[in-house]
Amino acid sequence: MKRDFIALLCLSCGLLVATSSFAQKNITLREDNIDDVLKDMTVEEKVTLLVGASGDLVPGAAGYTHAIPRLGIPMTVLADGPAGLRIQPKREGSDQTFYCTGFPTSTLLASSWDQELVETVTTAMGNEVLEYGVDVLLAPGMNLHRNPLCGRNFEYYSEDPLLSGKMAAAYIRGVQSNGVGTSAKHYAANNQETNRLENDARVSNRALRELYLKNFEIAVKEGKPWTVMSSYNKLNGDYTQQKHGLLTTVLRDEWGFDGIVMTDWGVKEGTVKAAKAGNDLMESGRQVEIDRLLAAVNSGEITQEELDRNVRRMLQYIVKTPHFKGYKHSNKPDLKAHAQVARKAAEESIILLRNEYNTLPLKGNEKVALYGITSVDFVGIGTGSGEVNTEHIANMQEAMTAAGFTLDENLVEYYRSCYATQTATEKMEGSAIDKRHRPEPTLSAKAIERQAKDNDVAVVVIGRIAGEGADRTVKDDFELTAIERELLQNISMSYHKELKQVVVVLNIVGVIETASWKHMVDAIVLPWAPGQEGAHAVADILKGKVNPSGKLPMTFPINYMDILTSYTFPYNWEMTKGKKGERKNVDYTQYYEGIDVGYRHFQSDPDVEVSYPFGYGLSYTTFAYGKPSVKATADGIKATVTVTNTGKVAGREVVEMYVSAPAGGLVKPVRELKAFGKTKLLAPGASETLTFEVSAYELASFNEKSSAWETASGKYEVLFGASVADIRATATFKMSKEQAWKVHDVLGKK
Ligand code: BGC
Repeated sequence: MKRDFIALLCLSCGLLVATSSFAQKNITLREDNIDDVLKDMTVEEKVTLLVGASGDLVPGAAGYTHAIPRLGIPMTVLADGPAGLRIQPKREGSDQTFYCTGFPTSTLLASSWDQELVETVTTAMGNEVLEYGVDVLLAPGMNLHRNPLCGRNFEYYSEDPLLSGKMAAAYIRGVQSNGVGTSAKHYAANNQETNRLENDARVSNRALRELYLKNFEIAVKEGKPWTVMSSYNKLNGDYTQQKHGLLTTVLRDEWGFDGIVMTDWGVKEGTVKAAKAGNDLMESGRQVEIDRLLAAVNSGEITQEELDRNVRRMLQYIVKTPHFKGYKHSNKPDLKAHAQVARKAAEESIILLRNEYNTLPLKGNEKVALYGITSVDFVGIGTGSGEVNTEHIANMQEAMTAAGFTLDENLVEYYRSCYATQTATEKMEGSAIDKRHRPEPTLSAKAIERQAKDNDVAVVVIGRIAGEGADRTVKDDFELTAIERELLQNISMSYHKELKQVVVVLNIVGVIETASWKHMVDAIVLPWAPGQEGAHAVADILKGKVNPSGKLPMTFPINYMDILTSYTFPYNWEMTKGKKGERKNVDYTQYYEGIDVGYRHFQSDPDVEVSYPFGYGLSYTTFAYGKPSVKATADGIKATVTVTNTGKVAGREVVEMYVSAPAGGLVKPVRELKAFGKTKLLAPGASETLTFEVSAYELASFNEKSSAWETASGKYEVLFGASVADIRATATFKMSKEQAWKVHDVLGKK
């Protein structure tokens, strides 16, 4: 086949139009002729396919790939997640709306500890992706919660890599069961928003392997995402998108990933290096990237083999997409049914942190004083690319009313009018209130005293919002604002004087300080940012229609500085002074803490107490754990434990299985989460036996010296806990022989 023709790139419309001076034999892409198509492609066509396109097939989608009509290659569409599909809800010239369901954010989904639930949620979510004509959902976000102040933590799952990896794998399976793709992001060590495009994360190989890559390893092996998104940041000196060891050696050669890697949405100088490293698609795509790739292919800097390798992967991706298969999307997903899925998911995930004197559940016939500006402006999701354009986000005022509570009408009106005034001012001043949550209006102590007499119970909603592009702060964000503190104090004093109780609802996108004020209130419910229906789930929990069963996917520290990573997190500009390029925690962040992240640190330092430990969450019932059994299998261990509902109402229990491993020449965490499960809804008196299987490889720790995963021989303790600090049953087993799995030492030194 002759290929000396002129290729015209029509970038604005995303089409590559080829005109030939020779009659072309018409070859069009099929699943089984990828190599033939590859042979027929011009170099121009090839490089164009490696760079993102712009388009308008689905308004609001984040990106596209190029179409090459001559070869039957369609344009494909990529749009954001993770709490649902992010597209524009309205289109010019059309009366139709294109709203998507706002599902619970990832942190709340992780709080369910329920992989089946996550898969159900994302099966519904993936249906919206398909029916709105999108090929890949740019999710799950799965960076580890290294520090509570990362502005995008709500898009991520946990401080623990196992929980994070399992949740991401379930997420991927659900979305992809619809025949659309996902993109596990942001690979890797993208743990802060400050200087997110350039920050160099300097991380030891052990911390990378055991923490920051471990969750991706699990997600890739168990979820098989179509795509992975390389992050903006650098890792040990190189941009992740240009790091061959990360994108090829580890991701593909070691873990068996066979999809495409795309860059996060910004171009770096090193397009050529990125392509060689195994970054197949440059998003969002610019002409300069096509030019660079073309020049490098012509000069031989990119070999034909490298070029074909990346293009082949793109073609393998394209043949899987709905656009290639000619799927006729309806633009009419069943939003009503999906709203129910979103609500159920929130119900199964919300955490009860405190419940003194069985304050909750309420009886349902109380007159409720509902406080807080967040009661009217509920935080369903978060800001930035993770935000979803939903038709409506239920707030606590409407949810409590719908659940049958009688609300103090004066307070309802007060907060509505404050909200209206703030919104008007916001419009006038053009201020971005959404960067931080809207200010809490003041209420006089006198007014609160009166309300305490008029009402039966106080429910105070405290809100926080955050998102892409900025990290949170300690003052007025991690910590309560002065107004919030005063409000809680006055409410606590007045209601307790009347022998009435105070419930707090934490509608927050990340961990906040709770130790200094939790004793002032009787109950605390933590729904995080629970999506469009989450307020209804909170109301059902307050009423006892739903028994809470979520548990914390991270630790709540007493003080911010109790967390080791706080010493290297840019929460305070003073810490970050210096010359550009050398600013500590801005230009580079040294992960001094190694693997001492989250509960791994708190468990190993018993002097530092926490406000709520990892894995913690209460129920309206109680559970007893039976005597566990742990047996060796051909490849690891199999453990079982029976859980019985010993209380008076039906409930579900999350069981966390930690392992304490013999040192084997390494300093190891006191215990590490190695498996978890959740019972079905157990009636009072009912039991369920949960089974956990863990392989020897999964029990291994990473030895930097030998660049190997090593499972030490000796006695292992297996601990079954209701949280990391509440171990209910233990067993031991003996590993007779050591095992090691050597891996490549390619990630750079810290
Ligand atoms: C974000 C990604 C997102 C992409 C496309 C980037 O700025 O970091 O998470 O998928 O934009 O919107």
